[in-house]
Order: sequence, then C-alpha cells, then structure tokens
Amino acid sequence: MSVQIIVGAQWGDEGKGKIVDLMSEQAEVVARYQGGANAGHTIVINGKKYVLHLIPSGILHDDVQCVIGNGVVIDPIALLHEIKTLEDNGISIKGRLFISHRAHLIMPYHKMLDVAREKSSGKAIGTTGRGIGPAYIDKASRVGIRIVDLLDRTILEEKLRTNLAEKNVLLRRMYDIDGLDVEKIVAEYVEFDNLIDEYITDTTVLLHNAIKEGKNVLLEGAQGALLDMDHGTYPFVTSSNPTSGGACTGLGVPPTAVDTVIGVVKAYCTRVGNGPFPTELNDAVGEELRRVGHEFGATTGRPRRCGWLDIPALNYSVMVNGITDFALTKLDVLNDFAEIKLAIGYSVHGKRTKFFPADVQTLEKVEVEYETLPGWQCSLAGIREYDALPQNARAYIERIEELTGARVAMVSTSPDREDTIIRN
Ligand code: GDP
Ligand code: IMO
Ligand code: MG
Repeated sequence: MSVQIIVGAQWGDEGKGKIVDLMSEQAEVVARYQGGANAGHTIVINGKKYVLHLIPSGILHDDVQCVIGNGVVIDPIALLHEIKTLEDNGISIKGRLFISHRAHLIMPYHKMLDVAREKSSGKAIGTTGRGIGPAYIDKASRVGIRIVDLLDRTILEEKLRTNLAEKNVLLRRMYDIDGLDVEKIVAEYVEFDNLIDEYITDTTVLLHNAIKEGKNVLLEGAQGALLDMDHGTYPFVTSSNPTSGGACTGLGVPPTAVDTVIGVVKAYCTRVGNGPFPTELNDAVGEELRRVGHEFGATTGRPRRCGWLDIPALNYSVMVNGITDFALTKLDVLNDFAEIKLAIGYSVHGKRTKFFPADVQTLEKVEVEYETLPGWQCSLAGIREYDALPQNARAYIERIEELTGARVAMVSTSPDREDTIIRN
C-alpha cells in the first residue's frame, strides 16, 4: 500500500494528467486536493484525447474511485459538463465519484468578479477567468457556500442573500455590471444538487478508510508549485496551495500518512498568464518549443510562454514539496534541438543568489547562468527502456538528477499513456 502525492513542480501543465492516469493502473483511489476548473489535465489513450478539469485523472480506469476533496472549488456547470462528456464517451462515473461536502462552490458572481477584476486591473494576473480567486477569497472570509449547504434550501438561500447583498454592490458600483437575482441562483443550484446528490459524501472518512485498508492512493495536484499562493511567484499565482502540503489540508489526509511525493517536471519550462519567468525565450527557440510541444492551454487555449529548464526554480520546488522522484515529461519535444540549455544559477547585480527570490521585482531581473548540453537529434518513439535512450538524452536526465538530488523515475516521450519509460 502507499499514499503518493503527484505534484506539478513548475508553473502547471507539466503533464500531471498523463502521469496520474498511468499511475492509476496500480491505484484504487485518486483524489484531487485543490484548485478547480482552472486545471486542464490531458490524457491520451491510443490517440484519443480527454481533458479533465475537476474530475481526477484516474477516472479512465473503471475500477478506480475518484475523490474531489474539500480543498477544491467546484463550478457546477464545469462539473456537469465534464460528467456528461465522460458518460458520452462510455465512461461510467456512477458509484465511483465522491465529492466532499466540505468543498466550496464557485458561484456565478465569482466568475464575473474574476473577469471584471482582471479587466480593470492595470496589473492583470492572466487568470483563467474560472472564478478561482474570488471563490477562495470567500472561503477565507468565511462567507463561502459549500456543497453541504446545497442540502438545505433555507440555508442556501440565506447565505446567498448575504453574499449577494455585498457582491451586487461590487458588481454594479465598481464594475458597472448588472447585479444577480437570489431566486434564480437558488433554483439553479438546487437543480445542481439533484444531479450530484448521489456523489456527495464525507470524503475525509472515505480516504482514511482507504488508507487504513492498505489501498494505493494517489493525491493529484493541480497547477504547480510556482503558482502556489504561499510559495509561488506571488502575486502571479493561483489562490490555493498546489504544493504537497496542500494535499493534506485539501483532503484531510495527515502528513504522516504520505509515503512519497512525485514531482511532474516538463523537460523545459512553460507558463501561462503573467509573472516572472527567468528562462523565458522570446525568440525563435521559444517559438519552436511552443510549436513542437503544442504549448497552448488545455483550459483556455492561450499560447504558453516557453523557456529552458530552470534548475534554481526546480530545486526550490523540490525543497518545498519534499520531492524525491521526478516524472520527466515531454522529453521528445527536445528531439531536434542541436543544443539544449539548462539554467543552473541566478545572479543579481553580478552576485549569485543562494535562495529563490521571494519578490517578483528581483526574480524579473535575475541574470541566468546556463550550461549547454548536446542534443540527441533523433526520435524517441517506441523506446520503453531507459538504457535504450540515446546517450545524450540520458546525459541530460542524469545532469538534472545531479543538480537536483531527485531521481528521474519516469520518462514520458509522447502524450500517449503507452509512451512512458519506468525506471526500476
Ligand atoms: P497537466 O495540466 O499537468 O495535466 O498538463 P496539460 O495536460 O495541461 O499539458 C500537458 C500537455 O502535454 C498535454 O497536451 C499532454 O497530452 C502533453 N504531453 C504529456 N506528456 C507528454 C510527452 O511526454 N510528450 C509530448 N509530446 N506531449 C506530452
Ligand atoms: P493545470 O492543473 C497552468 C495560472 C493562470 C494564471 C494563474 C492564476 O492544468 O496545470 P487562476 O485562474 O488560477 O486564478 O489563474 O495561474 N494557472 C495555470 N497555469 N496550468 C494550470 O493548471 C493553471 N491553473 C491556473 O494561467 O497565470
Ligand atoms: Mg494543464
């Protein structure tokens, strides 16, 4: 038995969906612990693509139980759409999707405020517009509406009325947007409850029982460590804790129950939205990474910014997450590059920084020191054994291991489930 956290080690979109799906072959429970429908986790099986936003990436294995934990913020529209899409594809959800009644709901005004704030701000974060920030603000302000509130119409109506009294003023006065009507939202959310009632449960107890029974449990992160509200490149972050600690708070699983933390790392770096990105390539090389890696957001379709792998940022991520093993993805995207660069240090005003800078002003002006490695310039298609990788590819991987102290336990060489090398 084991409890493993799978965490994004960079700025999201590292390929968590693919890795969690693959690891789900050996798992009985897969649980999402934070974020919401800002996530887009892609799984490809025999060329067929699925993109999941809220439902854990274990759902394509029909014997795996999938949990949406208390730390997730749930948009009913997105969830129902996702359930329907899966069912239309012949994937049965019934009896194996479990939604925490402690999870908070995304309300229509959260999405409106998210978009309005971004539009009116001189310093937009570049959010996904899914209402994530405003929903977590309400959670922290202790006025959030939770799944459990759907079970009692009177409570739902009362909470909504209190919320709207404030939100409508904000929408009208601050953003010049029409306010919302309580009755209409109550009716919509009561209908939502009817549709998801069978999935609602105490997921904390479910997970504790699974762990007690010795089941294999995967805790699936969304976003990435550098988007973490506390540890990321604040304020250009999401509003939750994607780092491994978030798995404990977002599921009610104690740290003592966790066996391993696996960091999913892209063989280079990408970032969607604004914020510092020391190794970003605003040139033909960056364009090439975007083109070959199909670096466009799985949720919003926005082009992802691309750059070389950043070891100082990765080491910071290894430290805050407690990562011992990496799943290295998208190695194939580097196939045709004659040279591959690896950022190995940051300096500010000519002085090497010891720590990952806490403020974006410093991070934006770090000078990056690179090491250049020769590329392998051949296809990795069909390679299933580590030793069968070209020598320069192995040298790249082993250099990453040397610089981070973490072990590359898995290497992914295409979007497809099959194309993954598992090292002993
Ligand atoms: P997630 O949010 O971390 O689950 O990642 P996304 O699904 O947003 O983005 C990763 C993208 O890379 C998806 O389109 C995946 O299908 C794709 N992908 C994952 N692993 C590999 C790989 O090893 N090689 C290639 N070429 N694509 C991959
Ligand atoms: P997955 O799980 C990449 C980014 C947004 C923006 C910032 C805040 O697919 O890796 P938010 O809507 O969360 O308030 O946006 O975070 N972001 C992601 N970037 N992958 C994600 O999820 C992301 N979820 C949010 O682009 O910069
Ligand atoms: Mg994604």
